[in-house]
Amino acid sequence: MAPDKTAKKDMLFHPAGDLKKNAHVPDFDTYKELYAKSIDSPDDFWGDIAKDFFWKTRHTGRVLDHNFDVTKGEVFVKCMEGARTNICYNVLDRNVHHRNLGDKVAFYWEGNEPGDELTVTYGELLHGVCRFANVLKSQGVKKGDCVSIYMPMVVELAVAMLACARIGAVHSIVFAGFSAESLCERITDSRCSLLITADGFYRGEKLITLKLIADEALRKCKDKGFPVQRCIMLKHLSKDPEEIPQGSQSPPLAKRSRPDLQVPWNPEVDLCWHSLVAEASDECEPEWCDSEDPLFILYTSGSTGKPKGVLHTVSGYMLYTATTFKLVFDHQPDDVYWCTADIGWITGHSYVAYGPLANGATSVMFEGLPTYPDVSRMWAIVDKYSVSKLYTTPTAIRMLMKYGGDPVRKYKRESLKVLGTVGEPINPEAWQWYRTVVGDGRCPIVDTYWQTETGGHVLTPLPAATPTKPGSATFPFFGVVPAVLSESGEELEGASEGHLAFKRPWPGIARTVYGDHDRFEATYFRRFPGYYLTGDGCRRDEDGYYWITGRTDDMLNVSGHLLSTAEVESALAEHEGVVEAAVVGKPHPVKGESLYCFVTLAEGAAYDAVLEAELKRRVRERIGAIATPDHIQSATGLPKTRSGKIMRRVLRKIVCGERDLGDISTLADSSVVEQLFQSRC
Ligand code: WTA
Repeated sequence: MAPDKTAKKDMLFHPAGDLKKNAHVPDFDTYKELYAKSIDSPDDFWGDIAKDFFWKTRHTGRVLDHNFDVTKGEVFVKCMEGARTNICYNVLDRNVHHRNLGDKVAFYWEGNEPGDELTVTYGELLHGVCRFANVLKSQGVKKGDCVSIYMPMVVELAVAMLACARIGAVHSIVFAGFSAESLCERITDSRCSLLITADGFYRGEKLITLKLIADEALRKCKDKGFPVQRCIMLKHLSKDPEEIPQGSQSPPLAKRSRPDLQVPWNPEVDLCWHSLVAEASDECEPEWCDSEDPLFILYTSGSTGKPKGVLHTVSGYMLYTATTFKLVFDHQPDDVYWCTADIGWITGHSYVAYGPLANGATSVMFEGLPTYPDVSRMWAIVDKYSVSKLYTTPTAIRMLMKYGGDPVRKYKRESLKVLGTVGEPINPEAWQWYRTVVGDGRCPIVDTYWQTETGGHVLTPLPAATPTKPGSATFPFFGVVPAVLSESGEELEGASEGHLAFKRPWPGIARTVYGDHDRFEATYFRRFPGYYLTGDGCRRDEDGYYWITGRTDDMLNVSGHLLSTAEVESALAEHEGVVEAAVVGKPHPVKGESLYCFVTLAEGAAYDAVLEAELKRRVRERIGAIATPDHIQSATGLPKTRSGKIMRRVLRKIVCGERDLGDISTLADSSVVEQLFQSRC
């Protein structure tokens, strides 16, 4: 079906009646009442929610305490101070022992290859996690130590993260698409002494030899003076049939199993996951952590080019991911929920792992691609597991939209009830396609706006309560107070457009940038004291709906992945043939934005296919395949201000072919602009 070009931004879609019957928040008036309570008495609001969780000792301080004003002292947020708990206990033991959910399915794991599958119950997951927690302890990992995890989307990735949480270790998960250099940078920044990885995996047809990449990263770490002591490797593809222990949760041999896979092995560092687990006990007392003890670090792009290790702490993150999951997807006990994100991103942390597990939900965990073996794969999975709540990205929707409605309609999708999106602004056409084709017009769309730093959804509809407008993330979640700020930091009222900021914390907001609290303050709090600044622009319409208009800083969003222009530029400029590089986003019909790079070459260097391939390879090696440039243009000069600053605003116009450049009075040499227009890719 052709996309619905008639989609208008001001169309209103009201939630369907049948969803309202058992909904946690059944109508908009209830949303408003609860929202008012969450703002007027946050301690009572979150305090009531906290009663559902297990606390070894109760909190003594306020439920939520903070300072957002850098002029008044250090920025901090504290939640449930004085309480002791364990998030792994709350998402596993509490479900198994207090809620009788031991036999309930936690994950239906669906491999890259149709037919590769595994079912894991809460009881089995608890045992697997305890065993691996004991493995970590036996390797000397203690509370507060940081562990790096670099794994494909397998159940053992969830096991590894939860095992860290159980013993109070801090996990730092690095998405398995990142390069060796990126992994090394993250390992050294977080000072991890142990890495958990896997031999390899398939993404569609493509074999990724993960252990080889991990080894290269470890060599680089050693060269930098940060030797990693231990590397635990899961055999995902290279298992021998005899190696599968009886009654183990490991998937049976993958269809594309590769017992012949060449896996380098360094006996001084490398350890086999399976041998270690076989000897470990499946009982492990959790480490009782303080509320504000660190839970994990997750790196996200920063505008200086160096990734920021965003740090989340135990209690606030637990309360917030559990509550947003429950209410935004209106979780019900018989739901089958599927979030297509990789655990290596924040969406996977909050809404594949912690949020759903905290609610005792049954989830699908998918290793593969929406287009493999064909473009119907997602709908085949929806029908196979009777998925009721689906959470995916605008990029996936736009990509599948290209193939029309037939591959979708090959499957019934009758089980679907709520459809979610995340990661980037969703254009109204894609929103409408998601609603009318995927959801057959029956399912509300929840367009959830949030960030690695926010821990969970901050602007989002609630499916039975919020009338939605295609392309708008609608209203704030409970406890969240947005503000639209002008360039000078003035808070704008009513319909307005400006910087999106938040006036006070919610439990799940990040606490710091690991090892660099000053950078945390500088990035989010210094420009407008008293506010958390998101780095996104937004418009609030006359009905109070929020519309994200894109980044206001030097960040790009390619297929929902945030990249910093500085990071790509420095990778390009490392090439001896390049003197200077400038990178901007070019609108892309599927990816949202693609990377368009301008390079000025060194004396004697010539721009040809070889150089172009080298530059692309350089960026892939430095960051990963997600950052591969779509276009590289050789430029004799770049538009600069008289003080030498590159005018990216002008470059953005050039890549879009827009001749109206706005105010260019500060441009030092206007002749370069015409040359750049002439030689556009
Ligand atoms: C963008 C991903 C518009 C935004 C959860 C944000 C969105 C960045 C939406 C965070 C949305 C995320 N509508 N834009 N629904 N969701 N974004 O840290 O620019 O990977 O700042 O977290 O993605 O990306 P991150």
